[in-house]
Parts: sequence; structure tokens; C-alpha cells
Amino acid sequence: MKPNLAEKLSYHMEPDAFRRFGYAVVDWIADYYKSIESYPVLARVSPGDVRASLPPKPPQQGEEFERILEDFAQFILPGVTHWQSPNFFAYFPCNASGPSILGDLLSSGLGVQGMLWATSPACTELEALVLDWLVDALGLPKQFLSTSAGGGVIQDTASSASLCALLAARERATNFESNRTGIRGRLVAYASAQAHSSIEKAVQIAGIGRENLRLMEVDEQFAMRTEALAALIDKDRKAGLVPFFVCATLGTTSSNAIDPLPQLGPICRQHGMWLHVDAAMSGTAALCPEFRHIQHGLEYADSYCFNPHKWMFTNFDCDCFYVAERKVLIQTLSVLPEYLRNQATESGAVIDYRDWHIPLGRRFRSLKLWFVLRHYGIQGLQFHIREHVRLAQEFASWVKKDPRFELVVEPPLNLVCFRLRAGDDENQQLMDALNRSGDLYLTHTKLNGRFTLRLSVGQTNTSEQHVQRAWRHIAEQASRLLISA
Ligand SMILES: Cc1ncc(COP(=O)(O)O)c(C=O)c1O
Repeated sequence: MKPNLAEKLSYHMEPDAFRRFGYAVVDWIADYYKSIESYPVLARVSPGDVRASLPPKPPQQGEEFERILEDFAQFILPGVTHWQSPNFFAYFPCNASGPSILGDLLSSGLGVQGMLWATSPACTELEALVLDWLVDALGLPKQFLSTSAGGGVIQDTASSASLCALLAARERATNFESNRTGIRGRLVAYASAQAHSSIEKAVQIAGIGRENLRLMEVDEQFAMRTEALAALIDKDRKAGLVPFFVCATLGTTSSNAIDPLPQLGPICRQHGMWLHVDAAMSGTAALCPEFRHIQHGLEYADSYCFNPHKWMFTNFDCDCFYVAERKVLIQTLSVLPEYLRNQATESGAVIDYRDWHIPLGRRFRSLKLWFVLRHYGIQGLQFHIREHVRLAQEFASWVKKDPRFELVVEPPLNLVCFRLRAGDDENQQLMDALNRSGDLYLTHTKLNGRFTLRLSVGQTNTSEQHVQRAWRHIAEQASRLLISA
């Protein structure tokens, strides 16, 4: 019942109503997870359908919450793609889990804005602690600990983290003059041709200019060729340019390629260049000692990021960004107006995370990460990561045994790149038919110029039966397609 405004002049939801509807929403989410496989994984709506089903103007008078929830189920849900379905194999995962959802709910409930230590000390201190825990859990170099000269911060996304790395690199290379006068001189950045598009976007935003980003050749495994990088840096220097930044990727988006840090690191050191390492999805694998080889050479890195919101059962958004020298990052991003001054900041004894990323304000994101780490324990996380890798490898073995298909590259971890030998059109048709079926969702890339299917295993609840079923669907659909061709 809505409050009778004659008796009580408030439109707010009272605590008891909040409790009742809160239970209803949590019940809804629990039922959703139980029945998630009954929905088509990829939403079946056409452009404009969702909007057309909703009123063009907001209500003048508040509505009953039950009615809002009903409309959510009736009009919004059909337009949702079910990222949390265990049959979701597209892109990279963006997985969630019970403890993470509940941590996020508490964060919303507290409604804390932790821009300064003083605006909510626990928000800052838990974040610093959890990021230090992860240095240990992932076997990251000690330079990233907040108890050293470096430290970690939670950012919204890997895109933002890479932008911050690029900005800090720009300032270090120009002695902090670019912040003051704008960029003078031609700074040049390098990444592999397989690096994520967020690097190109960061180069645009940071004023480096797309023409000053060199996208390097890759080898047969799609990893950056270091000889080519060394030669190009020399050439650019001779031409009077200033090479200042290299982004290496551990687990590229197209094929999960691992750029060779042990070779890239010394080149960056020799030229005083900033080495940023983007391990957005694959960084989580380092929870398991047997996969830690992917980050050999990470001690050369000036900055590093990975996304618990991809593969570590932590709801979007949550990227962990580490720097080896926090003072460079802070000096790059710090602007201190009078209204943010406070004694704790002036004492120098606290971290103020507002200086570690682009926005001023920040949510209490470490709560969900803390909940995940405590609920699963490192052992629980390792168990599920190992299982996802095992399932991807098993899927790859089925692909290899079927003469109609080929593996495009050996899968290093949990992403399988494969294709029908028949041709690009057939692969496109196969993917479209599978996605239309609603039984699973796959996406594609181009490798060596050819249309390639990607099966990415990493959704929280994906298990053996889901991967087996996916392969059965793929193989059956391929038979139908190749017979009718
Ligand atoms: C290697 C890599 N880097 C960066 C990103 C961008 O991630 P975000 O959405 O966190 O910016 C992705 C996304 O898939 C990625 O695969």
C-alpha cells in the first residue's frame, strides 16, 4: 500500500516496505538462477522493441512496487541476454555469484561514496587490503603491494585502467609537463595488433593520436613479435620521436594469446618506457600456480590490470589496477580543490583513491570482492578456474577429432578458437543458427583473415554437461548445414 499522503507527507519507500520488496527481489533473483536455462541465451527482440513496449513518458504519480516488478518481468526480461546462463560462451565471461551480488547489495545499501579516506575509511582500507591479498593469491610481484612504493585500486573497467596507465606514462615521459602545457613532441605507444581496442581508445583520449600508436606484428600464436618491436623503437627514436609506452596483453580477446613479458620487459627498461600489462580476462588464471607461467616477466611491469568481473565470480564492474610507483599515478591525476581538503589527507597517512582514477566519486566495490574471496576461499576459486580450463581443453580435443572442423590455435587456457574447414560463409551461418536456437551463445573473431568461432568457458555455473551439450549442438547444426549446402 502506498502511504496516504494526507496522513504522512512522504513519497519514500518505508523500511518495512523495503524489507518486503527486498525479499521479493531476492526471491526473484534466486528463482531466475534456478530457471535461467529455460530462457533463450541471446535476447530475441528486434531493435526498438523494448522501448516501444514502454510508455513514452514517466508516470506523474508513483506506482505500486508490485506493478513495477511485474512490468520488469513482462517488458524488460525478454530484452535481456542471459550473461549468467551456463550456456553463455560468447565474448569473454562477465560472471556473477551469490556472494558478489550480496556484497554489491550491501554496497548499494550503505550508499557510500569513498572518494577520500575521510569520506568512509572502511571503503579505502578494505580496498587496499583486498588488493594486497590478491597480490599474494595471484603471485604478483611485490612491487604492486600498497606496503611497497606501489599499490592497487579498483577501477570500473580495464579500459579505464589502461587509460590511467597511459596518462601516467605520458606524464613520466614528459616530466609532468603534458598536464601543464598540453602535449608537445611526438610520443609513440606500442601494442600488438591483437591488443584490445581499449588501448586505441586510450591513445585517442590521452591526446597521443592514433597515428602514434604502433600495432605490432604477431607470431603464429598471435603474440607480439619482440624483434619487430625493438627494431621499430630504434627506428622511431632515430626519427626524433619519443617511444614511451608499451601495452602487453596476457590473454588477447581474439585468441587468448600471451605476449612475451620476459623479452618485452628488458626492451622497455632499456628505453625507459612504461610497460603496462593488460590481463583483463586471463589474469584470474594465476590463482592456480600451474597457470602462473603466463605472467613470467611481470616484475618488469610499471602497471598491471585484470578484471575479477570477467572470470573471478565478481559482478561487473570490478577491475583491479596495480602500479609499481603510486606517486607517478597520483601526481598525474591529482587536483586538490579547497573543498576536498581535510586533516587525514594532509597528514599523509592515508590513501585517497580519488587520485588513482578518472572520476572523483567511487562506490564501495571492495565489499563484493571481499565477499567472493571469503566465500570461495582461494581453494574454491582455484577449483572452478581449473574446471573451466579443463572443459575448454576437452572441447578442443573434440574439435580436433572431427574432420569437418579445425582448431585455429592451441587454446592456452579457457578460450577455444575453431572453425569449420568449409569456409567463412559456412562458419557465419553455423554461428547464426546456433545463436538463433537460443540453446547457447557464441561469438566470432577473425584470425589470419578468416572467420573464426570462439567458445569461451568461464560462466560461473558452466559445467561438463553444458560444454558437452554445446558441442553436440554445434556438431549437429554443422551436419544440417553441410548436408543442405
Ligand atoms: C584483453 C582485454 N582488455 C580489455 C578489455 C576491456 O575490458 P573492460 O570492459 O573492462 O574495459 C577486454 C574485454 O573483453 C579484454 O579482453
